[in-house]
Amino acid sequence: MTQRKRSKVNQLVDEYIKAENYKRTSWREKGNLIEIYTFKTFASDLSFSWRTLRAGFCDPTRFSARAKEAIAKKLGVNVEEAFPDDKEHFYYSEKSAYSLFSNASNEMATEMNKNKPTVVILGATGLVGKTLVSILIERSFPMTDLRLCSSPGGQAKEFTEADKTYKVKPFERSVFDGADIVFFSGPDDMSPEYAPDAISAGAVVIDNSAHFRMKPDVPLIIPEVNPYRIKDHQGLIANPNCTTAGLVCALAPIDKKFELEWIAASSYQAISGAGVKASESFIAETKRVVEDNFKNINPMDFPFNLIPAVGSFNGVQNFNEEDRLIEETRKILERPNLVIYPTCVRVPVLNSHSISTTFRTEKPFRPGEIEMLLADMPGVEVIDDPLNRKFPTPVMADGRDPVLVGRIRRFDDRTGGMWVVSDNLRKGAALNAVQIAELLLQNQRGES
Ligand SMILES: NC(=O)c1ccc[n+]([C@@H]2O[C@H](COP(=O)([O-])OP(=O)(O)OC[C@H]3O[C@@H](n4cnc5c(N)ncnc54)[C@H](OP(=O)(O)O)[C@@H]3O)[C@@H](O)[C@H]2O)c1
Repeated sequence: MTQRKRSKVNQLVDEYIKAENYKRTSWREKGNLIEIYTFKTFASDLSFSWRTLRAGFCDPTRFSARAKEAIAKKLGVNVEEAFPDDKEHFYYSEKSAYSLFSNASNEMATEMNKNKPTVVILGATGLVGKTLVSILIERSFPMTDLRLCSSPGGQAKEFTEADKTYKVKPFERSVFDGADIVFFSGPDDMSPEYAPDAISAGAVVIDNSAHFRMKPDVPLIIPEVNPYRIKDHQGLIANPNCTTAGLVCALAPIDKKFELEWIAASSYQAISGAGVKASESFIAETKRVVEDNFKNINPMDFPFNLIPAVGSFNGVQNFNEEDRLIEETRKILERPNLVIYPTCVRVPVLNSHSISTTFRTEKPFRPGEIEMLLADMPGVEVIDDPLNRKFPTPVMADGRDPVLVGRIRRFDDRTGGMWVVSDNLRKGAALNAVQIAELLLQNQRGES
């Protein structure tokens, strides 16, 4: 066993551990246990986080210059004294190699520019990433700097939105230096790989991938439904699945007032939910099929077809989009035993997901009561005039913020149905993520 000389910082961390004065977020990654510890209150109220990797996987992790300064200030010493040699911050035991990271949420959050944060978008050239840029601009989200990244390697690109041109640079970890908020909207496996680096650099991560949503210590937030969860974050907040977000906005007020017993939900999910490449190939393939006079339609392709399989099969009976709908709905509504019967279907629609849902409640409701509840729900718009053929459609929801609800029916005093449509790139992803960022700023300013 090799034990390196302990630096002042490591000695302080030892004291914190002894005092069991921390919050722990952990998850498993390719057999490694990743842990982030946020120390709550101890003497100087300094917070740190670090991750534990199995010996052999410990890459040289560094504090950002900003984190070093903040930590040294707390210790009452200069940066060189607190961090005499970066390598000293790694010490090895027989089983583990520990690498110490700078603080995640508390210390650096107080350092965050509460009025104008530096914002990073990973996956900025993707469908969600581009929508994030538009929404940040539309909502005049306050920013000191907006840094946009595409995939690593490759060339820098340009991005024009609302007459302003932004540079999109290939992803490099250094983009996290000095960042306050990082939106992850790249491929799903990017989030576990790099989120710890962003958190360690002092940023708060808002993650669009499915990776962290069900981790117990990670809040999964829809601002209209469970905004109070923002206080639980330890540097990482998950954004719900695109189908779940719209459905839960409509279900939440019904659950609150009449207590849901079960729901059955069938989704009609647009191609844009599968990303930019799937959307481009859907358009190209649709043109080809039309030009081919509808000959040679592949039975498993998207054009002019319905595919009752979204995501990968779980080996039992669901596809993982169906599992996400069940688990995420339960987590957000805080109803761990809610019975949900989902079927998720990919449909040949360009954008906006629709869901047909039937629900059963514990308490009876009168005619018109569900309509009234939904009309009062922030972020929901009721469009329900079937006589005049007025009801939500995916084309109607495209590019709009609200979750549209129509075809509201009462089958008996405890059973109802509704048709819920929302833009999967907006409420289902980017809009909800920006609303979370707004909530974060409000929370840090003590407004929520
Ligand atoms: N689409 C939706 O409706 C929706 C809704 C909710 C959540 N999500 C989630 O949001 C995320 C993004 O989805 P999307 O539909 O926007 O995907 P997308 O259109 O396929 O875009 C992917 C983005 O990630 C970048 N990228 C690719 N490989 C990368 C790598 N190895 N490292 C860093 N960046 C990389 C791409 O950059 P290049 O241009 O350089 O390839 C592009 O900017 C996914 O996790 C998805 O599950 C999507």
